[in-house]
Amino acid sequence: MEKQQLIKGFSKKTRDEKLNFVSQHCTSASNVAEMLKSFHHPNPKIQKLLEEFSENTISNFPLPLNICPNLLVNGKSYLCPMVIEESSVVAAASHAAKYWFVHGGFHTEILGLEKVGQVHFLWNDDKNLLFEKFDELKEKLIRDTFEITENMIKRGGGIQSIELRDLSAQEPGLMQLYVTFNTVDSMGANFINSCLEQFSKSFQAWHAQHHEFKKNGLEVIMCILSNFTPNCKVRCWVEAPISEMDDVIEGMSGVEFARRFRLGIRVAELDPHRSTTHNKGIMNGIDAVVLASGNDFRAVEACAHTYAAKDGKYTSLSHCSIENGIFRFEAELPFAVGVVGGLTNLHPLVKFCLELLDHPSAEELMSIAAAVGLANNFSAVKNLVTVGIQQGHMKMHLLNIMNQLEIPENEKPRIIEYFKNKVVSVSAVRNLAYKWELIKDKLTK
Ligand code: MEV
Repeated sequence: MEKQQLIKGFSKKTRDEKLNFVSQHCTSASNVAEMLKSFHHPNPKIQKLLEEFSENTISNFPLPLNICPNLLVNGKSYLCPMVIEESSVVAAASHAAKYWFVHGGFHTEILGLEKVGQVHFLWNDDKNLLFEKFDELKEKLIRDTFEITENMIKRGGGIQSIELRDLSAQEPGLMQLYVTFNTVDSMGANFINSCLEQFSKSFQAWHAQHHEFKKNGLEVIMCILSNFTPNCKVRCWVEAPISEMDDVIEGMSGVEFARRFRLGIRVAELDPHRSTTHNKGIMNGIDAVVLASGNDFRAVEACAHTYAAKDGKYTSLSHCSIENGIFRFEAELPFAVGVVGGLTNLHPLVKFCLELLDHPSAEELMSIAAAVGLANNFSAVKNLVTVGIQQGHMKMHLLNIMNQLEIPENEKPRIIEYFKNKVVSVSAVRNLAYKWELIKDKLTK
């Protein structure tokens, strides 16, 4: 086996040195460096900005910026930006948005904005003594972080509570400071982590000053925000009289549609294999808005899935009820997003997306993202319990297949026309393209 070589000093190289280094490691094509450079932004200032977001950058990796029109949330209509590469997601969100636009739109209620951070530590001393003196410690922690919190307090946020939690039954000595924050319109990761690290310093200083404590009784393990923010959440719902829902699926009564739809949701509530895919469908929409607004979609994903399992079993994030002739479809979605700080003031396209959304507050952005998630979920389950997923999905995928086969632009419409009433598959498209002499080799690509 070939001996692997450790690469040293990669990060010290210039952008182009890195790019050339990587290109030389690609045996597939000679023009890799040129291809990578072709994705550099023509404006050097913007290119530099993009490179400074991360490390070891060699090029940019474009994703489509798409629009979901007609998204009516709490009576306000949005052209909602979505950054996503998967075909069908934007179409699905747009169909549902259009449907609900004329049925009252999406409604939301913010159920809390509480963020969480923790200082994990070992306490090898008398626990009761610490609990007794905790109010004094709390006061010091709040006082010592004032320089960090002052501005946030002026904006209406800051530290909300500090609690001492005991985990020593699971791991000897393990305890934590469980801290809640309000970070107003920012996601607040840096703010929270800065507060927590100051807490750690102050806690250790306070401990050293108290001679009644054992000298080595405190060992701080780590300070970090928690991405599980179950009390930073939004409830989002759509509802309509079933008697007005004969128009969801052609040829299917509203009553029958609602019955099958509710069962589709019930399956996701009961079976984790289904709920995982079901929730993934919700996150298709949420992630796309979160990304467009310059927020951290990994944090949002992590939180959503932990929340889905909060009662000990992974389940559906959305629910459906039919009562007194009213169809109601809703989800409670916890996530932390911001509209100030981070990429929001830096990335030109993020700035544009926030402007397109009319400069939303964090609460409004949560509502918009939740509505898109519910819209995607509505479309997916609607298709699943009626016509099936492939009809819509593969039609959208047809474009990708044609691009992959390098079908000339002017030939695409007749292929789309041909597949209008037929099952789309890679080989079916390839065979047709070969038959119509649009590609030379039936087996390549
Ligand atoms: C595909 O990205 C998402 C779906 O699988 C969601 C679902 O099954 O509900 C269509």
